[in-house]
Amino acid sequence: MRLGTQRVNAQGRLEIGGCDALTLAETFGTPLYVLDEDALRARCREYAAAFAALKPDVEIAYAAKAALNRALCQIIAEEGLGLDVASGGELSTALQAGFPPERIHLHGVYKTDAELQLALEAGVGAIVLDNFEEIARLQRLLTREAPVLIRVAPEVDADTHPLIRTGQRDSKFGFHLLNGDATRAVEQVLSDSRLRLQGFHCHIGSQISDLRAFAAAAHAMVAFADAVRQQYGYTAPLLNIGGGLAVRYTPDDPEVSVPDYAATLVNALRDACQRHEYPEPALGIEPGRSLIAEAGVTLYRVGAVKQVPHENPRLPREYLIIDGGVSDNPRPQMYGARYTAVHASRAAEPHTRPYRIMGKHCETDPVIDCALLPETRAGDVLAVLTTGAYAYSMSSQYNRYPRPAMVAVRGGVTRLIVERETYADVMRMDR
Ligand code: LLP
Repeated sequence: MRLGTQRVNAQGRLEIGGCDALTLAETFGTPLYVLDEDALRARCREYAAAFAALKPDVEIAYAAKAALNRALCQIIAEEGLGLDVASGGELSTALQAGFPPERIHLHGVYKTDAELQLALEAGVGAIVLDNFEEIARLQRLLTREAPVLIRVAPEVDADTHPLIRTGQRDSKFGFHLLNGDATRAVEQVLSDSRLRLQGFHCHIGSQISDLRAFAAAAHAMVAFADAVRQQYGYTAPLLNIGGGLAVRYTPDDPEVSVPDYAATLVNALRDACQRHEYPEPALGIEPGRSLIAEAGVTLYRVGAVKQVPHENPRLPREYLIIDGGVSDNPRPQMYGARYTAVHASRAAEPHTRPYRIMGKHCETDPVIDCALLPETRAGDVLAVLTTGAYAYSMSSQYNRYPRPAMVAVRGGVTRLIVERETYADVMRMDR
């Protein structure tokens, strides 16, 4: 696990970005999303350097669905990355934050006319086409040329949770290869000179640690591009392989390195191009989780400690009830996702006592089934690590809990980037 700027300070407390976690909890309240800004920026640079060392024409776009707000847009823009948005809301946020539209591309399995219109008016760098109805609707909306990519389901079955696998045969995303849809989509796009086809796109899934799946995707895409070239004489200047690199949530998760990922992808692309005698296209990638997950920590306060009778002997009997849960991070419930916790004020002490950390919502919402901590009492603050991706962005107001605030920390300075919702916010749209 990568801890960014996390360290234990002289008082034995967890510090992030030079800020004491306990002080953060006291100042901003809990639950609190903490963004380690230097860790995020360092990861952006690590990505850029790893790919630049191997290939000059690589376009890295941050996948906004992992977490997006105006401050994050600015950080990503400053780091020189592009932005992959998947909805009108993500696109509007980026535009309002002043993100350069030509560095944005729009995804989605069903983009409404309003979303397509917004993208056209903004002049985004590309619209990633997903289905025939969308091509037709885009054609009706066009008043001038528009850059597009065609999304292909590449027939790559990545080893990850079934709910976040997207490149397999029965995927709902993109044009399928086997039934000829992908080829027909190319034909349709090439026949309209207003649609400027920049190349092809695929995304095989998320939280993938076996790099061979990415190599398989690159091979499949080059094979497809070559078939298109032979049939239509069109050569793709860009192949975008999407995102999906895993991160380590617990010490048991496998190590994954960005340089290894870059080497695997670039080598596979080169190898496939040589095999097909295909001119090497630019490479696009869209990392979300692996850019931001490790820069996020969620702080919770423990409200109660309960001893429960044994039902499942593999689970701890001592429960910590915290002031957050499924509404600020649905991932444990949705995917059985596992996390690691640190005791914020006793960070230097051995973390050996097993606790089951439970959320405060009206259902069974374990945040961590077996967290190893020092002895913990009501009132203590816990830090759940690696929550930067798909926690805040998938949060809800379940039980009508207001959403937490997000604070960026850097060099001992705090910056509130998302305010905590209030009860008034929860009721704002009620009539
Ligand atoms: N590109 C496309 C077209 C995508 O659909 C996604 C993620 C990404 C890029 C970024 O993938 P990443 O690098 O973050 O793996 N809510 C789930 C993850 C859903 C991912 C959806 N698509 C979770 O919490 O695990």
